[in-house]
Amino acid sequence: MVAEANGDLAGFVIGFLSPSQPDEAHIHFTGIAPRWRRTGLAQDLYERFFTTAREHGRTTVRALTSPQNTTSIRFHESMGFTSSEPIKDYDGPTLDRVTFVRHLDPA
Ligand SMILES: CC(C)(COP(=O)(O)OP(=O)(O)OC[C@H]1O[C@@H](n2cnc3c(N)ncnc32)[C@H](O)[C@@H]1OP(=O)(O)O)[C@@H](O)C(=O)NCCC(=O)NCCS
Repeated sequence: MVAEANGDLAGFVIGFLSPSQPDEAHIHFTGIAPRWRRTGLAQDLYERFFTTAREHGRTTVRALTSPQNTTSIRFHESMGFTSSEPIKDYDGPTLDRVTFVRHLDPA
């Protein structure tokens, strides 16, 4: 999902439908340009991703972030995700991660 403003990139959500878990979708990375933060743009892009995921029969969305990224943790919790405690070495040595999971009602 990509948002543009006057030809410039304002934000994006990179996600995918899990090829191995038919009820799951994953959000890999999200970024909103600093000037567009706290305008609801990430919320809007996530809602669009949820719609696409529902249309493909997905009822669980997963995402993750680093434990230091408190903005991301607050954002995901505001979007209805449940966050884990930091999981040590989740992405490899020294790369701890907080994981997020959210249920989607079927379409
Ligand atoms: C995290 C990020 C994607 C949020 O995008 P955003 O467009 O600013 O988020 P929204 O405006 O849709 O915010 C929705 C809600 O999330 C929460 N939230 C978002 N940013 C927050 C912050 N800095 N502090 C506390 N809560 C925050 C709030 O509840 C907010 O609702 P509100 O503004 O009505 O209070 C953005 O800050 C960003 O791009 N950060 C850098 C990249 C990054 O960390 N990506 C995520 C890791 S993959």
